Amino acid sequence: PSTLVIAVDGPAASGKGTIARGLGQHFGLPHLDTGKLYRAVALSLLRWGGDPESEFAALRACDEVSGLLDDPELKSETVGGIASRISAYPAVRSALLERQRDFAAQPGGAVLDGRDIGTVIAPGARAKLFVTASPEERARRRFAELTSSGLPVHLDDVLIDIRARDERDSHRSAAPLVQAEGAMLLDTSAMTAAEALAEAIRLVESTF
Ligand code: C5P
Repeated sequence: PSTLVIAVDGPAASGKGTIARGLGQHFGLPHLDTGKLYRAVALSLLRWGGDPESEFAALRACDEVSGLLDDPELKSETVGGIASRISAYPAVRSALLERQRDFAAQPGGAVLDGRDIGTVIAPGARAKLFVTASPEERARRRFAELTSSGLPVHLDDVLIDIRARDERDSHRSAAPLVQAEGAMLLDTSAMTAAEALAEAIRLVESTF
């Protein structure tokens, strides 16, 4: 196929990021983790002391995104929690829209992962994947990730956090997390990362 746009959506710690990165490598396509954009807005607010309860403050923080995309603090749970809040603001979503659409419109194609790629950013994508896993399995993965990077956390707290994030992402009115029309479901609960990627490649190739 000449232009291959792949949309990968799913909840936190479902494996969508690893899969999207792997698909980019496999098909030789540039990859954008769109969660990073929302995390960068959150980090900007946090650094500058802006109020996450204010849509206007969050909108202003969108101007600072470009300088923060490689910041190690983007990965923190604090930043993720604020990202999940400010991503509910329509003004923030539209401020980040063009950047994502432009990325998806590159001549050879692209892989994007997030929550609304198949529904809003690239509804015409050739391949759409909805990657999921049980909340318990996602909590175990996030827990392993956090403890291996030296952060002292409890598995129960991580599960509570995952459920709260799911609830917010799925029930907001602006671009809620849903399986897009035409999206292929990939449940990674019982798969290793390598198995999940192999299955994702197979699903994408089934659209050729
Ligand atoms: O995927 P990640 O955990 O990095 O995303 C952080 C937050 O950004 C998510 O909880 C979600 O609310 C938001 N997000 C979004 N739309 C996207 C990507 C992320 O609303 N396309």
